[in-house]
Amino acid sequence: MRAARPARLIADPAIRAAEKLSAARRVTVITGAGVSAASGIPTFRGPGGLWKNHRPESLATAAAFSRDPVTVWEWYAWRRQKIAAAAPNAAHTVLARWSRRFDAFTLVTQNVDGLHEQAGTKGVVGFHGSIWRLRCTQNCGAPEWEDRDADQSALPHCGSCGSLARPGVVWFGEEIPTEALEAAIGALDCDVCLVAGTSSVVTPAAGLVEEARRRGAYTIEINPEATPVTGGVDLAIAGRAEEVLVEIDEKLSVER
Ligand code: OAD
Ligand code: ZN
Repeated sequence: MRAARPARLIADPAIRAAEKLSAARRVTVITGAGVSAASGIPTFRGPGGLWKNHRPESLATAAAFSRDPVTVWEWYAWRRQKIAAAAPNAAHTVLARWSRRFDAFTLVTQNVDGLHEQAGTKGVVGFHGSIWRLRCTQNCGAPEWEDRDADQSALPHCGSCGSLARPGVVWFGEEIPTEALEAAIGALDCDVCLVAGTSSVVTPAAGLVEEARRRGAYTIEINPEATPVTGGVDLAIAGRAEEVLVEIDEKLSVER
């Protein structure tokens, strides 16, 4: 009979994650709206996620915007107000620390709230743009501009040609900015790939963790709910990012 390993080593997924991270040189993290939930920013799907019963797929499209820009801007103004009042939470803080800890660190986020950057994270790849940037709907040639005014009761317009302005985010049916896509795909050659707070239903972000695993990375998911990638990762941790990441970080500090 073999001696039993101490139960906690097998049972505690945070310890397992910390072990893998302490041996890792290249770490890539993929985040979604769940990472900002503890900052008071509603997720897109699940409880409390829907705005006035609209599914995100019916608001975040160019077609929806050209049909009803007032409603789409009203949704973004609501999100901007929530984000303006928010501060990074413990999940953002741990990831910011990790961005300085590893030889190579990339954080691919689908979030447009800027909280990873606000927490001081290095190597952030903004997959879906920024809610604080606007651009001309007519592509008149004016470069994107920053607009931090959370009150959008008067629809914003392009300063160059006067056309309606739209949020500088990536909508359904639109391409991920080439630079961000290339940076994210390059970062999938890593030792550990951790995905946190995303429902993993929106492509291409949803496919990144599987690709990282195919390339040999150890993959970890943190999410209180099961997602389409849960069954395919090496370690699925059912819990909230702001709690689980802190726990892993504490164990990681001990490992050091
Ligand atoms: P979703 O709203 O689809 O998913 C949020 C996920 O976070 C869910 O799986 C929750 O179970 C999980 N979650 C909730 N609270 C959490 C917590 N405290 N810690 C960890 N996880 C938690 O958000 P995304 O996956 O980011 O795109 O959505 C992807 C894209 O769809 C968004 O970037 C946005 C949206 O439409 C565009 O606007 C183009
Ligand atoms: Zn213009």
